[in-house]
Amino acid sequence: MAVITNIEDLKRIYERRVPRMFYDYAESGSWTEQTFRENSSDFDLIRLRQRVAVDMSGRSTASQMVGQDVAMPVALAPVGLTGMQHADGEIKAAHAANEFGVPFTLSTMSINSIEEVAEATGRPFWFQLYTMRDTDYTSRLIQRAKAAKCSALVITLDLQILGQRHKDLKNGLSAPPKLTPRTIANLMTKWAWGIEMLGAKRRNFGNIVGHVQGVSDTANLGAWTAEQFDPTLDWGKVAKLMEQWDGKVILKGILDAEDAKMAVKLGADAIVVSNHGGRQLDGALSSIRVLPEIMDAVGGDIEVHLDSGIRSGQDVLKALALGAKGTMIGRAFVYGLGAMGQKGVSTALEVIHKELDTTMALCGEKNVANLGRHNLLVPEDFGGRWA
Ligand code: GLV
Repeated sequence: MAVITNIEDLKRIYERRVPRMFYDYAESGSWTEQTFRENSSDFDLIRLRQRVAVDMSGRSTASQMVGQDVAMPVALAPVGLTGMQHADGEIKAAHAANEFGVPFTLSTMSINSIEEVAEATGRPFWFQLYTMRDTDYTSRLIQRAKAAKCSALVITLDLQILGQRHKDLKNGLSAPPKLTPRTIANLMTKWAWGIEMLGAKRRNFGNIVGHVQGVSDTANLGAWTAEQFDPTLDWGKVAKLMEQWDGKVILKGILDAEDAKMAVKLGADAIVVSNHGGRQLDGALSSIRVLPEIMDAVGGDIEVHLDSGIRSGQDVLKALALGAKGTMIGRAFVYGLGAMGQKGVSTALEVIHKELDTTMALCGEKNVANLGRHNLLVPEDFGGRWA
């Protein structure tokens, strides 16, 4: 068994183990993938300020996100089709998150349903909401999340229409995979995945199939979003959705200071600075590059989280030092899940935690709450003005 020391190691195993269609789904950005690439490469532009001869004993990465205790400020992001990366993937990822002490977020487009995850874990998780044209269905989803005792509602604002990812169209992405000569040829090389999948509780969209008329087992993500997602979603509708939820609300997909101010005005508990992992508007700035401007605009008024591009504890530290209170990882945990199920998600969390902790120590910090601009060397034009 290979020694796993970083997220890239998990990705290599993941690529070998999971059918191409689902690997490509996770590992794509939209159109030219410029934003997808820059989400990671922009982190590399920021350097760390080393400090020495500082007592580094008794360090802690513990913090809070939306008032909830976390072992480190790294939540698992909502990721569609997680249960296609590994049988019962959402349940396994939620178990790993619970064990580690970080939040797990279930996507509307998950395979395991809200109820299945709640029953299997018996612990609160966050639920991510997509809003549908069918407002009754959207309200029922909110009620189902309440009944499952979800501890935060994450409303995604940047996907009323799906960004085009070329590979998904070419692969005919669907859950479960449609059996074409090409997918059969690929599946034959992924027998371990297939055997596990035969025993899965579910192989279709658990929050949708059986809850919406006319959606079959072969529901296809592109077709579904085009037909069902609400293109009329606006701030007024966001406010109405928030009224239906009694607990914490996190608005995800904010990339602009004006939008961040609207989130504050609506009274959200947190925002996630995110470009959806580069999967929506290709050509948008990376999340880490817009973070300083958003902090300047609303940093004192609302809790700010960041996702898109985080592949290491060093990336987490950079986001925290620029002012984020929390972060989310998507691909980084999916690589682990696809590679080795629940153990792989735990490994991804351990890798990121160790990197965060060691980096903190070498920067002369003992506590994530003390991280700040003083830990970073940021190019003068980073995040500068893009008129
Ligand atoms: C859905 O959230 C996607 O990015 O595919």
